[in-house]
Amino acid sequence: MFDAKTACVVVVGAQWGDEGKGKLVDVLAERADVVVRYQGGANAGHTVVIGDSHFILRQIPSGILHGGVTCVVGNGVVLEPETFFGELDELARRGIDTTGRIFVSDRAHLVLPLHKLLDAASEKSQKIGTTGRGIGPAYEDKYGRRGIRVVDLRRLDCARELLVHRVQRANRLLELMGSPDRASLEAHGELLERLAPRVLPLAADTGLLVHRALRGGKRVLLEGAQGALLDVDHGTYPYVTSSNTTAGGAAVGAGIGPTAIDGVLGVVKAYTTRVGNGPLPTEAESPFDERLRELGGEFGSVTGRPRRCGWFDATVVRYAVRVNGLTGLAVTKLDVLDSFPEIPVCTAYRLDDQSCEEMPTEVDALGRVKPIYEVHEGWRQPTGGARKLADLPAAARAYLDRLEALSGAAVRYVSVGTRRDQIIEV
Ligand code: IMP
Ligand code: MG
Repeated sequence: MFDAKTACVVVVGAQWGDEGKGKLVDVLAERADVVVRYQGGANAGHTVVIGDSHFILRQIPSGILHGGVTCVVGNGVVLEPETFFGELDELARRGIDTTGRIFVSDRAHLVLPLHKLLDAASEKSQKIGTTGRGIGPAYEDKYGRRGIRVVDLRRLDCARELLVHRVQRANRLLELMGSPDRASLEAHGELLERLAPRVLPLAADTGLLVHRALRGGKRVLLEGAQGALLDVDHGTYPYVTSSNTTAGGAAVGAGIGPTAIDGVLGVVKAYTTRVGNGPLPTEAESPFDERLRELGGEFGSVTGRPRRCGWFDATVVRYAVRVNGLTGLAVTKLDVLDSFPEIPVCTAYRLDDQSCEEMPTEVDALGRVKPIYEVHEGWRQPTGGARKLADLPAAARAYLDRLEALSGAAVRYVSVGTRRDQIIEV
């Protein structure tokens, strides 16, 4: 991805999240100097496998596992400090030194326990099937201009005053929602006091940091969380997360201008999954959904919920190519399809007996569409050992060629297993 003309690359999910961005960022970070998370919070679960070790990163960019990489939690992220420090401690315990190479935007908003209480009590959240991490309520406070930011920890007395109103408001809402839970002002005050001395040494104007890195000829990777179809503007609203997961959000959430971005890599699974509620047109029928789930280990890395599984949906990926301006695709988990004799691919939809090639805006319409499938012959051979395209069976190469043609973006990487070395660079 990186070359003389490409110094700043965004990696985004091009389906409903869990496409394997963590692995791709880990692989690409070897060639990067700075990795920035730009949106979302501890709802993300980026799994990276190194040798026998599994790392699940929620708040810290996946680039942290490379010793020379500086990691940034950007202004667009909502920071859940307990998760963040829990991860830092866990990384230290496993021998990964993060000293001096992790920074948090002083403009990032905090996710507080009150946000989690509100997420848990909200009927709306239950209907959407959120991760329960307080993400929606934290972004609501941000856009409602009543959020508490990292910078506020510099003046704890003022932060405590802000808290009085926030806790009162949360408790009124909890009462309205019929929840027996209440947020404690004292506990929130203690939390901020405990966090300030740990967060503040890492706090910085991270947009400036990224700007200077790029000006100094460094390579920067902007790591998205979730996927295009969970974007608050472009996703299957209201069954979405509360941030802009698409590439446009990368500039805003990292604090740089859009002209600084040189390339956008979209990560897609060779099939489709979704966790949480909302339409999934290519959801597979039994026993294929169970088989995909089992072979792909498709259980939420944050919540443990079984993911809904289905076939590759080219309408979704074409849409993601357009709204992200994707310059390349990384197809992951190809090996999960190794044993299927036939592999359907959705090329377009039918909506109320009309052909439908674009994503409908109305979520009900997307719930009604009928996928039009073409069925590909499976390769029925293991692909996990392939390291170049030529190592793949002809039917697997034909499958990838078809995904590329239907999606409208070139396949640049193919991942054939969970390990770092199980990757093909095209
Ligand atoms: P929230 O982000 O917790 O508010 O959840 C909103 C929707 O996004 C729910 O359907 C979640 O399951 C989904 N979601 C949030 N984060 C992720 C993720 O990292 N991977 C996949 N789905 C996610
Ligand atoms: Mg995930």
